[in-house]
Amino acid sequence: MSGVRLAHDDRGEVAQLHGLGIQRFGDLYYAYGENKVKGNLFQGVVCYTSPDLQDWTNRGIVLPVRDEGLLAADTIAERPKVLRCPSTGEYVMYVHAERHDYSYAHVAVAVADDPLGPFRFLFSMQPFGNISRDIGVFQDEGGEGYLLSEDREHGTHIYRLSADYHSVVEDVVCLKGTDYAFGYESPTMIRHEGLYYWFGSQLTGWDCNDNMFATAPAIEGPWSDWRPFTPEGSRTFDSQCDLVLPLPDGQFLYIGDRWNPDDLGNSPTLWLPIRIGGGNASLEWHDEWHYEA
Ligand code: GAL
Repeated sequence: MSGVRLAHDDRGEVAQLHGLGIQRFGDLYYAYGENKVKGNLFQGVVCYTSPDLQDWTNRGIVLPVRDEGLLAADTIAERPKVLRCPSTGEYVMYVHAERHDYSYAHVAVAVADDPLGPFRFLFSMQPFGNISRDIGVFQDEGGEGYLLSEDREHGTHIYRLSADYHSVVEDVVCLKGTDYAFGYESPTMIRHEGLYYWFGSQLTGWDCNDNMFATAPAIEGPWSDWRPFTPEGSRTFDSQCDLVLPLPDGQFLYIGDRWNPDDLGNSPTLWLPIRIGGGNASLEWHDEWHYEA
């Protein structure tokens, strides 16, 4: 796999794998991306499937543009993340839902019986009254679901989801960065060998910065200090973390956006192995690397 790439789908078009969420359901990876072909305004969430994270089949728009209100064509929706709820079998999508000027700061919830949708918009919320900007999701080994959500005022929260994954039932933890006034955004989390690893980026909009991670033995903490996982000043190899994905061969895949604000739909993505263990995380640059998907 190439370290940085602009993946093309089976139609020969640039795959809109921006701000993406990936899950493996059955034999396939399902990637849900921000469709940025015509710029930043909402054009529907698009889904691609792949057996190997290399070749992507375009499965079309799975969360359509609504006629009016939230998720309409004059709004913004970012970081679509899907989980399969173990207690209902339903597929639940969380997505950051905004007005065109980023003044709304809600998270929208949509559901489907099939991972290819169509996802039905249920409602949007500000969890426990907190604003919600960049989001991520996490499913623990026991099946509990979590929503990670950046709230400018208090920090970044991890909320526990209800049994049906439709809503939040507990504000488990809320953290600001180390020597940093805010919580980190573009949050993503994994669990490995009894430790939780939480990743996020500083708040610099489309610009890149040194992204950070922290670890804890339990979601409620205690959490370590935050520190970078790439050489300081490398700006995470000019990317913003999006996902850290466990691979079947034991490696972890880092996926990060290298945003191109003037042409968002052609923003390339970094796909790199990230070494994780013993409380450390380290991302190294590779032009090409091999993995078992
Ligand atoms: C970033 C965020 C992106 C997008 C961008 C807009 O901070 O991570 O998802 O919202 O700002 O400027």
